[in-house]
Amino acid sequence: MAFKLGLFKTSVARKNVMAITGLFTAFFLIIHLAGNLILILPDSMFPIEFWGNVANQHDMYNAYSHFLVHFWPISIVAYILYAGLALHVVDAIIITLTNHKAKGEKYVKTDNSTSTWYSRNMGILGTIIGIFIVIHMGQFWLKYKVLGTEHDLYDLVVRTFKLTWVVVLYEIGIIALGFHLVHGFTSAHRSLGMYPKSWMKILKYIGVCFGIGMAVLYGIIPLIIYFQ
Ligand code: HEM
Repeated sequence: MAFKLGLFKTSVARKNVMAITGLFTAFFLIIHLAGNLILILPDSMFPIEFWGNVANQHDMYNAYSHFLVHFWPISIVAYILYAGLALHVVDAIIITLTNHKAKGEKYVKTDNSTSTWYSRNMGILGTIIGIFIVIHMGQFWLKYKVLGTEHDLYDLVVRTFKLTWVVVLYEIGIIALGFHLVHGFTSAHRSLGMYPKSWMKILKYIGVCFGIGMAVLYGIIPLIIYFQ
């Protein structure tokens, strides 16, 4: 289908697909983070008034997750997210293979003096994030949303983040995500060409703040729960 639509045909089309699916995923990450920060809100915030009821942290997190899974417009957005993530991965593989082929066919001298190590290793960072997402979805999404074997998501998340190997794996995945976002954010805006060139410097700073901010906020969730 994607091939029929010509989504991967030219290098410009491939870059645009990469940029749009990447930015959509980044938007999901902001919403996902906001919900998961409930897990580490200070005790002084509870009990809290929540949609007319007084809820503690436990109830509030479960109510939020229940709403996400059972409110049908959000389910549609979730399917768009899965499709976007799949397109992002397929596109990344095609771009990597095309670049390798081009390098094999002609002599290409690459100047690495102005690029960062993480911008040159987006594929490796993406692979680490991909492995992380598969394990992450197996731990929560599969058990809660698909199989229905777990009903108390708050309890499941807290139990999971008490395991040392899980916390180490999350920190690795989240650090890789931070670097991927720092470069991906600026690169996506450059590919789409939405802003004048003079704005690129500002966008670069926004990208750095966004990547570091997401990594720090996501990264502290498993750590706080582990040491609590
Ligand atoms: C460390 C903090 C995180 C916590 C506590 C957390 C928690 C959860 C939970 C409980 C679910 C299942 C319920 C649901 O579908 O919403 C979930 C789903 C998901 N998470 Fe996370 N997550 C974290 C970080 C991440 C990161 C860093 C990524 C991406 C790199 C990510 C990607 C996803 C995806 C794609 C889903 C499926 C979404 C859906 O079906 O709507 N999560 N997460």
